[in-house]
Amino acid sequence: MTSQATPAPAGAPDPAATPVFRLFIAGEWVESISGETFQSRNPADDRDVIGRFQQGTAADVARAVRAAETAAALWRRTPAPKRGEILYRFGQLLAEHKERLARAMTREMGKVLPEARGDVQEGIDIAFLMAGEGRRMFGDTTPSELPDKWAMSIREPIGIAGIITPWNFPIAIPCWKMMPALVTGNTVVFKPASDTPHCATLLVELMAEAGFPPGTVNLVTGPGGEVGDAIVESPDVPVISFTGHTSTGRRIAERAARRLKRVSLELGGKNGIVVMADADLDLATDGILWSAFGTTGQRCTACSRVIVEQAAVEPMLERLERRAKSLRLGDGLEPSTDVGPLINGAAREKVEGYMAIGGREGELVTGGRKPANPGLEHGFFFEPTIFADVKPMDRIAQEEIFGPVLSIIPMPDYQAAVTALNQTRYGLSSSIYTHDADTAFRAMRDFETGIVYVNAGTIGAETHLPFGGTKATGNGHREAGHAALDTYTEWKSIYVDFSGRLQRAQIDNQSPG
Ligand code: UN1
Repeated sequence: MTSQATPAPAGAPDPAATPVFRLFIAGEWVESISGETFQSRNPADDRDVIGRFQQGTAADVARAVRAAETAAALWRRTPAPKRGEILYRFGQLLAEHKERLARAMTREMGKVLPEARGDVQEGIDIAFLMAGEGRRMFGDTTPSELPDKWAMSIREPIGIAGIITPWNFPIAIPCWKMMPALVTGNTVVFKPASDTPHCATLLVELMAEAGFPPGTVNLVTGPGGEVGDAIVESPDVPVISFTGHTSTGRRIAERAARRLKRVSLELGGKNGIVVMADADLDLATDGILWSAFGTTGQRCTACSRVIVEQAAVEPMLERLERRAKSLRLGDGLEPSTDVGPLINGAAREKVEGYMAIGGREGELVTGGRKPANPGLEHGFFFEPTIFADVKPMDRIAQEEIFGPVLSIIPMPDYQAAVTALNQTRYGLSSSIYTHDADTAFRAMRDFETGIVYVNAGTIGAETHLPFGGTKATGNGHREAGHAALDTYTEWKSIYVDFSGRLQRAQIDNQSPG
C-alpha cells in the first residue's frame, strides 16, 4: 500500500516532480477534508521540494479518533504476545528499509547520514524491545493478607494515545512513543512535526505493511495549532505524549489537565559537561564536539555548556577551537560532511539572534555566522560556534538555543562546577570527564538530571533505559525502557477470594486478643 497515489493538485508547478502524500486513517490513505496541502523541503537546499502533504484539520482528527476507537475494541483483546509479533515484524521491516529511510531523513531534516541511520536504528531497537514486552508486561502477584485469597495486578491499555512528535528524531521518537502505546493495547493518532511529514509517512507505510490492523495507527499531518490542538482537546484521547518546546508542552499540559488526561512531556534541555583537570582532555574534546555539534546541536540532549576546571581551560579551549574549525559543513548525504544545516530559516534566525547576546556575555572563539562557502547558500547552515568565558547565569548559558552553539564556563573546582551545572531550569542530560573514581561517583549523585554520563558526551541514550529529565525538561514521565509502559497503561488490581465466606480486609486479619 502506498501513500503516493494522489496526483498533484492542478496549478502545481511541476506535478510529475512533486509527489502528494495523504493522511492514513482507518487503514486507508485519504485526502484531508481541507483539500489543502503544504510542502516539505530539504533544509540543505530549499529548492528541493520533497513532496506535498495534507493540511489536516480538526475534522480529520475527528475521523482518525473514530477509526482509532473502532479499532481499539479488537486490538485491546488481541493477546499481547500477538501484538508484539506485529511490532517485531515492523522492526524487521525498519531494518530492511533502514538505508532508504535514513536517506529520506537526511534529505528532509538535514542530519548527516550516519546519524540518520542511528535514528532509524533507535526505532528498530525500541520496536524489538517493545515486541518483547508483549511477553513480559509484568504485573505483581503478591500474598493477600487473608487466607484463601489471591492478589495480583495487571496492566491495561488506556485507550487512544495522541502522539505529537518533533522533527529532530523523526523516526526514533515516534517509535519510542508508538511502540509502547501499541504493544500495551492502545491505538494511536499520530501527528508529526510539519518539517518532517515525509519521514512520518514512510514510517506509517511500514507499520501498515507490518500488519497493524486498520485504525490502530492513524496519521494526521498538518499544523500544530489545528491538528495538535484537536488531539489535545479530543475527549476521546485520554493520553498524550509530546516531545518539543517547553512552552508548547506547558500549554498542552494545561489544556489536557482540564480533561484529566495523562500527559507525558519531553521538553527542553541545557545540558552540561563538566571537565575536571585530571580528565583525558582529548577524549573530552571528542565527546564535547559530538554532543555539541552532532545533529547541528538540535538534540534535546545536546551539550551547550562545558564547565571546565580552571587548570584545564586553556588546553580545552585550544583543542575545541582547532577541532570545531575543522568541521565541514554541507549536505548530510555527502560522506565528507560533518555538520548539516539547521532545520529551517526560523531556526537559523533564532541562532543568529543569540550571537550578539553571546558576544556581550562571553568571548567568541570560533563560528558565529552563516558560512560563506559556495554551494551552501540555499541551505540553513550555521558555523559551529564557541563562546569562552561565559558565566553560569548568562542568557547563552541558560536558554535553549537548539543549534551549534557552545558556551565554555570556567570554574575553580568540582563543587563550583556542580553548582553551575545544576543552575538551570532544565534537567535532561549531563556528563563528567574525570579519571578520579570518587569524583565520578559524586557526580552520579550530585547532577540533577535524568541522564548522567561518565567519560562520554551528553548524547546517545540507549532505548532500554528510561529516557527523560527533571525540572522543566518534563513532567515526571520517562520514555523508553520499562518505564515507557507506565505512560500508556492503567494498573488494575485484582482480588480473588476462594474462602467461600465474607473475609474483611484490614479487619479479619487482626491477630486475636
Ligand atoms: C532528543 O533529542 O529528543 O540520547 C532525543 C540521544 C538520542 C535521543 C535524543 N538517543 O541523544
